[in-house]
Amino acid sequence: MPDNDQQLVDQQIRYYRQRAPEYDEWFHRQGRYDHGPDHTRLWQQEIAVVRAALDGLKPAGRILELACGTGLWTQQLARYDGALTAIDASPEVLALNRARVRSAAVRYRQYDIFAWEPDEPYDFVFFGFWLSHVPLSRFAAFWDLLRAAVAPGGTVFLVDNRFHADSSARNHLSDPGRVTQRRELNDGRAFEIVKVFHEPEELAARLEPLGWCGDYRMTANFFIYGSASPAR
Ligand SMILES: C[S@@+](CC[C@H](N)C(=O)[O-])C[C@H]1O[C@@H](n2cnc3c(N)ncnc32)[C@H](O)[C@@H]1O
Repeated sequence: MPDNDQQLVDQQIRYYRQRAPEYDEWFHRQGRYDHGPDHTRLWQQEIAVVRAALDGLKPAGRILELACGTGLWTQQLARYDGALTAIDASPEVLALNRARVRSAAVRYRQYDIFAWEPDEPYDFVFFGFWLSHVPLSRFAAFWDLLRAAVAPGGTVFLVDNRFHADSSARNHLSDPGRVTQRRELNDGRAFEIVKVFHEPEELAARLEPLGWCGDYRMTANFFIYGSASPAR
């Protein structure tokens, strides 16, 4: 349903569509995201911590990835013993994802998550670097959507940025006190996007009243990650 944040949500979709060919530079700490070799080493170590935590949950069955992007996590999810559905609003990132993952078994769907309705119950739902883009005005509705998507006994796993001054590009200012941030593409075009930096205790305090039980953690510098399930 359109609300005051609809324009931001639309702008965010446009931003990621335009950013698709340069998106991975962020993940690989290249170009404007290169903060030096020590930073990159820590970043990679902390990504490995999150990947191991995801592995440790042994995802299986009907797996859903929301806001799958270019496939940096889809390639891991596709290795599990299950049927993977990957959703994103951007046809550009979906094309890059297909090319990276190269699996006919992955079911790709182009949807605006805020307008999507679950088509079947999923045993495992993953979203990476997505929750921070959910406006707080839509936070509860998003978790209601997840409840509708998760099968009985199912699990949600998330990873996202915790606030760190050097997580983004060298020419981006990240302000932990704001819930939107200005982001630029390599060619200088600028967009305003939603960016909410969650922390484990704050996330638990938001999710418990919504009926979710979870285990949320932080890596040493860069990431928040964890799993949650609907409380019984
Ligand atoms: C920060 S990227 C994360 C991509 C991927 N999960 C990863 O970790 O590499 C955010 C993704 O959300 C997608 N996205 C933005 N708004 C969306 C919306 N309303 N519905 C579905 N996908 C959306 C973008 O196209 C982009 O691929």
